[in-house]
Amino acid sequence: MDVLLITFSQTGNTRKIADAMADAFQEAGHLARTIPLNEANPDDTTNVDLLGVGTSCFSSQSPTPMKTFLRTLPALNGQRSFVFATSSGAPGRVLYDLASLLRGKGAEVVGGFLARGEVHHPAPHMTGQFPGRPSEEDLIRARQFAISVTEHVSMNRNGALINNKPDALKPGLGFYDLMGTALSDKMLRLMMPEPKPDPVMCDQCGWCVDECPMDNIRLLSAPILGDRCIRCYHCLNGCPQKAFHADWRFADPLLRFLYNVNFMRWFGDMKPGEQIY
Ligand SMILES: Cc1cc2nc3c(=O)[nH]c(=O)nc-3n(C[C@H](O)[C@H](O)[C@H](O)COP(=O)(O)O)c2cc1C
Ligand code: SF4
Ligand code: SF4
Repeated sequence: MDVLLITFSQTGNTRKIADAMADAFQEAGHLARTIPLNEANPDDTTNVDLLGVGTSCFSSQSPTPMKTFLRTLPALNGQRSFVFATSSGAPGRVLYDLASLLRGKGAEVVGGFLARGEVHHPAPHMTGQFPGRPSEEDLIRARQFAISVTEHVSMNRNGALINNKPDALKPGLGFYDLMGTALSDKMLRLMMPEPKPDPVMCDQCGWCVDECPMDNIRLLSAPILGDRCIRCYHCLNGCPQKAFHADWRFADPLLRFLYNVNFMRWFGDMKPGEQIY
């Protein structure tokens, strides 16, 4: 089989899962390619035997750049596919977003896989949650998932995979599923602080302009942000000069309330005994 994996991964967690899956596909004798979302062409998705789509989770949903890409795909006419994501303890509807958009294009989604990913969100309460994830064990689970997908597809089995994460294929009604539905980019722009570049520290290298997934930064005498920001903080995290800052005085307590360990245990998918730090 020719397998294509398309990933949206800003801090590398989802990419690690994709690479582990690609290794498993190759060990099983298949051709597997992993490409980042910003290099993917919608037409690439129609000439393969199996399509995997993976993303990080933002605001308990799939990030906008991935949703926008999936909406531009051509008809997928029964294309066998699967979805995967990494998140902290509140994945909400991230897998379902991917699966439902693929299904909307006519793809047959056989299952979904989720792993924990260390959080690099710059809000003081969020940063460093789930250190070291995905772990070796997460990567082994990813490989096992890939093998079960190949068996399922090559044996032409019907229905969903045995080790599918059930909420990939049907919408949930939990707290974080509802948050993922309710939190629009517009609301996030109101609730979360805008990253602000310091023109004195900026050396105009252009990294943030190239890397912003919303094409929202222009470089004049200093970086200027437009109105499409999704508050992913990739510019702030990655600027080589550390020229961006954000004011967390109001948003950090809000995030502490919405994404605390108890809520993630009661309403998210934190397992009994699993630690956040
Ligand atoms: C801006 C931002 C928002 C996030 N929102 C959530 C969330 O709502 N729920 C969750 O479980 N994880 C959330 N996370 C954690 C990421 O989904 C997690 O760290 C993921 O593994 C990052 O993947 P990547 O390294 O492939 O980019 C968020 C992270 C960032 C940076
Ligand atoms: S990445 Fe940092 S240093 Fe480079 S242009 Fe952007 S703000 Fe300036
Ligand atoms: S401006 Fe920064 S925070 Fe906003 S979308 Fe672009 S990279 Fe993300």
